[in-house]
Amino acid sequence: MTRTLPMVEPDPDLPESVTIYEVGPRDGLQNEKSVVPVEVKAEFVRRLLAAGLQTVELTSFVPAKWVPQLGDAEELIDLLGSAGTGRQRPVLVPNERGLDRALEKGVSSIAIFGSATESFAQANLNRSVAESVQMFAPVVARALDAGAWVRAYVSMCFGDPWEGPVPVDQVVDSCSRLMDLGCDQLSIGDTIGVATPGHVQRLLDGLDGAGIGVDQIGVHFHDTYGQALSNTLTALSRGVSVVDASTGGLGGCPYAKSATGNLATEDLVWALDGLGVEHGTDLDMLVETSVWMAGQLGRPSPSRVVKALSGT
Ligand code: HMG
Ligand code: MG
Repeated sequence: MTRTLPMVEPDPDLPESVTIYEVGPRDGLQNEKSVVPVEVKAEFVRRLLAAGLQTVELTSFVPAKWVPQLGDAEELIDLLGSAGTGRQRPVLVPNERGLDRALEKGVSSIAIFGSATESFAQANLNRSVAESVQMFAPVVARALDAGAWVRAYVSMCFGDPWEGPVPVDQVVDSCSRLMDLGCDQLSIGDTIGVATPGHVQRLLDGLDGAGIGVDQIGVHFHDTYGQALSNTLTALSRGVSVVDASTGGLGGCPYAKSATGNLATEDLVWALDGLGVEHGTDLDMLVETSVWMAGQLGRPSPSRVVKALSGT
């Protein structure tokens, strides 16, 4: 029996192809209660690549004291060999110490990660928004000098667990400060999953007004309130073509109350398949990977597509 497929009905307002920026190994595994063995992480990455994902964010070069789940960044890159480096294997880097560690491992793609709110900047980076920009400035300058590709994440772009809704102007200001450092791409983070489509439109308007066009933007929606896919489709209809997603819907942030998993890559792929948008991945292999990972983690994937296609 062949598996159920969505009927393909293209939408002329959407891009012809989308780059899936897979964050499962980093955003997904940073939030697990236990530390996943490094061999399992390497196998996870290999399976994601085998399923056709081109861009896979691997890990973070942060102090193990802050994120013990990713304290094996060097070992992971070593285990992956040539599959662990290159422009499409970004890693999170918060400061110059992290950059030194990453460059020493041959990394050529990094992501800095700022905040739209003071509360989260303090909780996640132990400093104010302005101080974190100061911390990132030499990281970006040195990374660009070394020929690396640089992404800037901004968290709490839609709402913050301590401060509530975040004004669009405030978000645009934080995004501009990081993009002014010379970053190649901005990822707008809905860390706690509270965004809705109209809000996404307003933020994209605000960014456009500040000279940050959709060709420079990726979207990073957590699915806490089940809105991640509608928010993503709204962004695509505006011309965004880079979408962050996590296989199996793993994810969250250890420093943000109420952050749950990212948009599941499988949910995204199902929708893109139905819309006839190219993405280059094999849905069955992603689902198999999520079922395998769920076995490693001891709990089922929250993705509806994984549940439906695997019967779990
Ligand atoms: P700090 O404690 O203020 O740092 O942390 P420090 O400079 O005072 O250093 C403290 C110690 O850590 C020192 O060692 C440093 O050498 C060492 P000691 O003297 O005590 O022995 N150290 C390092 N060691 C290894 N690697 C490094 C490093 N840096 C310092 N890179 C810091 C400041 C920014 C480092 C810390 O707050 C941090 O790493 N925070 C990151 C937390 C994190 O990873 N959060 C999750 C990622 S963000 C996210 O998930 C959101 C996102 O998905 C988007 C969204 O959903 O919105 C991206
Ligand atoms: Mg995240």
